[in-house]
Amino acid sequence: MSDKNAAARGPVAPANTTLGEALSDRGVSRRTFLKFASYTASILALPPTAATAIAQGLANARRQSVIWLSFQECTGCTESITRAGTPSIEDLIFDFISLDYHHTLQNASGHAAEEARHTAMRENAGEYIVVVDGSVPLKDDGIYSTIAGISNLQMLEETVRDAFAVISVGSCAAFGGIPGAYPNPTGAVPISEIITDKPVINISGCPPIPEAMTGTIAYLLSFAALPELDHLGRPKAFFGEAIHDRCYRRPFYERGMFAKSFDDEGARQGWCLYEVGCKGPVTYNACATLKWNNGVSFPIQSGHGCLGCSEPGFWDMGGFYKPLSTAKNDPLKWAGGAAVAGAAVGATSAFAARSLRNKSLKAAAAAANAPATEEKE
Ligand code: SF4
Ligand code: SF4
Ligand code: F3S
Repeated sequence: MSDKNAAARGPVAPANTTLGEALSDRGVSRRTFLKFASYTASILALPPTAATAIAQGLANARRQSVIWLSFQECTGCTESITRAGTPSIEDLIFDFISLDYHHTLQNASGHAAEEARHTAMRENAGEYIVVVDGSVPLKDDGIYSTIAGISNLQMLEETVRDAFAVISVGSCAAFGGIPGAYPNPTGAVPISEIITDKPVINISGCPPIPEAMTGTIAYLLSFAALPELDHLGRPKAFFGEAIHDRCYRRPFYERGMFAKSFDDEGARQGWCLYEVGCKGPVTYNACATLKWNNGVSFPIQSGHGCLGCSEPGFWDMGGFYKPLSTAKNDPLKWAGGAAVAGAAVGATSAFAARSLRNKSLKAAAAAANAPATEEKE
């Protein structure tokens, strides 16, 4: 792969190097590495004891072959994971992955690129991970998007055949996203509608939070297993709570203090954005806690309501600036009013988060051979 930070990171590690050796060669101290393992454990909602297991798992991991397929997409998801900024340890881990095929980042093109894909599939059969961004057009034999002379459907089925797991990155791949929005002229479908015989992890968002992507990959490398997923196939660690549950404007919501427009006194005072269309009560994502741009901010903190970009069909859900309770007048509607949704979602996600922590705690403790202490549900 090549990108703007590659020169700063130095040469790519040889295939037989462990991640621990590669980071050490790059001058990453053990202390920094352990801090990263603790941070990863925390964003994955694992207990502090899991940090040791993550550190050991990552340190001993060998280069993971990843084939990244881009179908009907806008490259925003790739932009998100290769975001600008100083090279971080997450970048180094991303560099450490053997990214054997990626249209935007690879140097090879044409026949050489396709040969690289086939070689990676052959040499890593049963072990490689396929990452997909973008949806797959099925209408008219998939003619609306072809690569290397074959349809996206053909390339997906061919590439996934010997894969260990599939990660659908972004709402286009996870749920159809913008290409699948009404009237869906290309017959776009999400990856999970096509791939039904392999685990498919959905990391939704338009685009997804970079840490949700790198955290999921770190989990796969550390534990060689899938993280716990919600009913939409998303890692619960990042999608277990609604934006509304952790939003710093929630106290205004509880007191009925709502901005009525984007330039009124309420908006200036930072009141709740529910009445100007915020979809936070029915949107599951980690924006309110992890935030964006290395934790600087997220849409609501910047003064705009959540669009619900990590939920299925977000583009067609009745208007970005209509409050949830009035969106029911639209043909395609969000389910339920915000007051009901807020209360129900809060209770459900709190329960789910506790269940997740307990399950993760047991899994992590087993991995680390450490005793687990369970929370009451
Ligand atoms: Fe672009 Fe959003 Fe689709 Fe990602 S999910 S490819 S950012 S439209
Ligand atoms: Fe925050 Fe939106 Fe919920 Fe208001 S409705 S508290 S702005 S998430
Ligand atoms: Fe998307 Fe809402 Fe986060 S619009 S980026 S899920 S605050």
